[in-house]
Amino acid sequence: MKKIFLTLLTVTILMACTQSQSKEEAALDHKVDSVLRLMTLDEKIGQMVLYSSDWDVTGPTLKKGYIDDIRNGNCGNIFNAYTAAYTRKLQKVAVEESRMHIPLLFGYDVIHGHKTIFPICLGESTSWDLKAIEKSARVAGSEAAASGINWTFAPMCDISVEPRWGRVSEGAGEDPYLGSKIAAARVRGFQGNDLGDTLTILACVKHFAGYGAPLAGRDYNTVDMSERVFLDTYLPPYKAAIDAGAMSVMTSFNELFGVPASGSHYLLTDILRTKLGFKGFVVTDYTSMNEMVNHGVAANEADAGLLSIKAGVDMDMQGEVYFKYLKKQVQDGLVADKMINDAVRRILRVKFMLGLFRDPYLYCNEAREKRELYSPAHLEAALDVAKKSMVLLKNENHTLPLRKGEKIAVIGELATSTRDLLGSWKAAGDWNFMKSIVDELRAFNGESNVMYSPGCKTNGEDRSGFAAAITTARKADKIVVVMGESADMSGEATSRTSINIPGVQTELLQQLKALNKPIVVVLMNGRPLDLSKETTLATSILEVWFPGTMGGKAITQVLFGEYNPSGKLTMTFPRNLGQVPIYYYEKNTGRPIYIPDPKYKSRYIDSPNDPLFPFGFGLSYTTFAYSDIRLSTKELSDKGELKATVNMTNTGGVTGEEVVQCYVRDLVGSVTRPVKELKGFEKITLKAGENRNVTFTITPDMLAFHRLDMTYGTEPGDYKLFIGGNSRDVKETGFKLVK
Ligand code: BGC
Repeated sequence: MKKIFLTLLTVTILMACTQSQSKEEAALDHKVDSVLRLMTLDEKIGQMVLYSSDWDVTGPTLKKGYIDDIRNGNCGNIFNAYTAAYTRKLQKVAVEESRMHIPLLFGYDVIHGHKTIFPICLGESTSWDLKAIEKSARVAGSEAAASGINWTFAPMCDISVEPRWGRVSEGAGEDPYLGSKIAAARVRGFQGNDLGDTLTILACVKHFAGYGAPLAGRDYNTVDMSERVFLDTYLPPYKAAIDAGAMSVMTSFNELFGVPASGSHYLLTDILRTKLGFKGFVVTDYTSMNEMVNHGVAANEADAGLLSIKAGVDMDMQGEVYFKYLKKQVQDGLVADKMINDAVRRILRVKFMLGLFRDPYLYCNEAREKRELYSPAHLEAALDVAKKSMVLLKNENHTLPLRKGEKIAVIGELATSTRDLLGSWKAAGDWNFMKSIVDELRAFNGESNVMYSPGCKTNGEDRSGFAAAITTARKADKIVVVMGESADMSGEATSRTSINIPGVQTELLQQLKALNKPIVVVLMNGRPLDLSKETTLATSILEVWFPGTMGGKAITQVLFGEYNPSGKLTMTFPRNLGQVPIYYYEKNTGRPIYIPDPKYKSRYIDSPNDPLFPFGFGLSYTTFAYSDIRLSTKELSDKGELKATVNMTNTGGVTGEEVVQCYVRDLVGSVTRPVKELKGFEKITLKAGENRNVTFTITPDMLAFHRLDMTYGTEPGDYKLFIGGNSRDVKETGFKLVK
C-alpha cells in the first residue's frame, strides 16, 4: 500500500514538474514572440550575424564599422571583445541606441581559462578527473562572465587519432567514452544549472562534426569516414555535450560525407535537431559559410548562404553572407519567413535564458572583474589541475622525485619561457604575471642549487649554446631538460608532417647523456610525439603538456614529490609517424599480429605494431597491484547488470592515485568490433600498503552499437572484460550477453 502511495506521489510530483517546466517554457516562448513580432526583416537578420571586434581574430575577414552595425540593428552578436568596460560600451550602443534595444551576445574562445589559464584541454583530459575538469570550466566561465563575456566557444568535442593535427591539443583525446564524460563535465562547468546565473556562461559545442579526422592530419582538410564510424566513434562526445544542456553548436570547416558541415542538412538538421533533439542555436565557424564556394558546392556566396540557412545554420560568424544576401532571398521567396523566424527565436531564447533582457549589463561588472580575475581560489584550482594532468612516462632507478637540496642543472629555452607555459588559446592570460619553471625551482630548492643554461632554442639549428649547457650540467647531481614544442606549434593551423621534437634539442640531450648523470626530461607539447630516441636517452620523462598560469609551480611540486603524478595518456603515443593513425580501439583484422605465419600478417617490416606508450598509460612514484577480476554473474541479461570487481593494493612506499580502467570486447558481431572499448574508469587514492575494491557496473545499453542494418542496439554473445591501469596491461575475464 505504502509503495503504491509513494509511486503515485512520485508520478504526481513528476507531472507537476513537467507542467511547471512547460509553463516556464511557454512563458519564455511568449516573451520571445513578443519581441520577434516587433522586428523588421533587417533586424531579424541582424540577430543572425556575429562579428569580431578588432581586438583578436583567428581568420582573414574583418568587418569594419561593427559599432554602426550594432546601432543600426544589423549586428546582434560580437566576439573577441572583453573586459567589463569595453563590453559595457558596446552593450550600451545595442540597448540604448538601436531601435529594438536587444542586448548583444559576447562570445570568446575561453578554452582552458580566461585570465587564470589551466592546462590545455588535452592535458586536462589526462587527469581523468571529471570534477577537476568541471571546476576548471566553472572558473573559466566565471572569470569570463566577470569580464563581460556571456558565451564561450567551448567545449571542443572532436575525437582525434591524428597527432599531426595541431588541434588535438584542444580536445580530450582519442576515446569516445572518456571524451563524452569530459564534454559533459565541461558543459556543466560553463553553464551550471542556470544560464541566468552570473557565474555561468553559454557553452558552444564544436566543431560539428568530425573536424578531428582531417585526411593526412592537415587542418581544414577533407574528412572521409563511414557513417558507422561517425555515429559510433565521433558523434558521442557532441551528443553528450548536448545532453548536458549545451545551448549552442558551432559547425566545422570540413566536409563530411561529401558536404561541407556548414551546408549539411544531414548534420545540422537530421542528426543535430532530429536525432539529438538539440534546442539551441547553430553558429558557423569563422567564415565557413563563405568557404563553401572554395569547397565547390556553391557557385557564389549567396548560394552558400542558401545552403546554410536550409541546412539549419542560425548565425553567420564573420562571413557577412546572411547580412548581404538573406533579405533579398526572403523577398524573392527563396527562403521562407518561417526559417528566419525560427532561427531568430532560437537566438533570442538563449539571450532571455542568459538574463540579458532582465539586465543587459549583467556581465559587465568592473568591481567584480577586479576581484575575480586571478583570485587566489582560481589560481589554486589551476595549480591543482596542472599537477593532476602531468603524466610520468618513464622513471628509471627512482630518479624522480628529486630530493630537496640536490644540485640540479636546468637546460632548455622552455624552462624560462612563461609564454609557452600557457599553450594555444591563452584568452586573456598574461604571461608577464607568471613565474617560469626555473623561477619556481629556485624558489623551492634554493637559488644556488638550481643552475640554468638554455643550451639551444626550442626550434632552430644553432648549437652554439651546447658547450655552456654541458659545462653547467657537469656541476649538477641531476640534469633536468625542459624540451618539446613551443606553444605556437599546436592549436589551429599548426599541422606537422613530423612528430619529432623540433630543432636540435634531442641532439643536445644526446650530448648530455654522455655525462652519465641521471637526466629528467620535462616535456612540453600539445600532441603525441615520437619519443623513441628520448626514451633511450632520459632516465625519467614527465609529460607536462602546456600547464597554464601555475605551470611552473605545478612542475616543481611534481618533480620534488610534493604531488605524486597520477595522469594517464588519453592519446596513444606511437613509436614513429608511420604508425599513425594508431589508437587502442583498433579492429583485429583477418590477419592479426599474433597468428603464427611469419610474413602474411597485418604488420610492418620495419617497426612493431604496438605503440611506445599505450592509451591510458602513466606511472606513479608508487606501484599498484591488481587482483584477478570477480564478476557478479557470468551472464548479463537484457535488463540486468553485471558487476566486475578488482582488489587494488598500493604496493609502493607512498600515497598515490590510480586511474583504474575497465574495457570490453564484443567477440562476434554482425559487423567487426574493436579489440577493446573503454566502458568505465575510477580514479582512486591509496595510502602505501592500503587496499580496496573497485567495482564497475556494466549494463546492456553500454554494449550497444550500430549493427549491420544500422539500427542501434546490442547483440547477444560472448564478451571479454578487462581491468587495468592502461589499455595494454590488463586482467581479463569473460561474460555472455543473453537475450
Ligand atoms: C576556430 C574556432 C574558433 C573561432 C573563433 C575559428 O578559426 O576554428 O574554434 O572558435 O575561430 O575564434
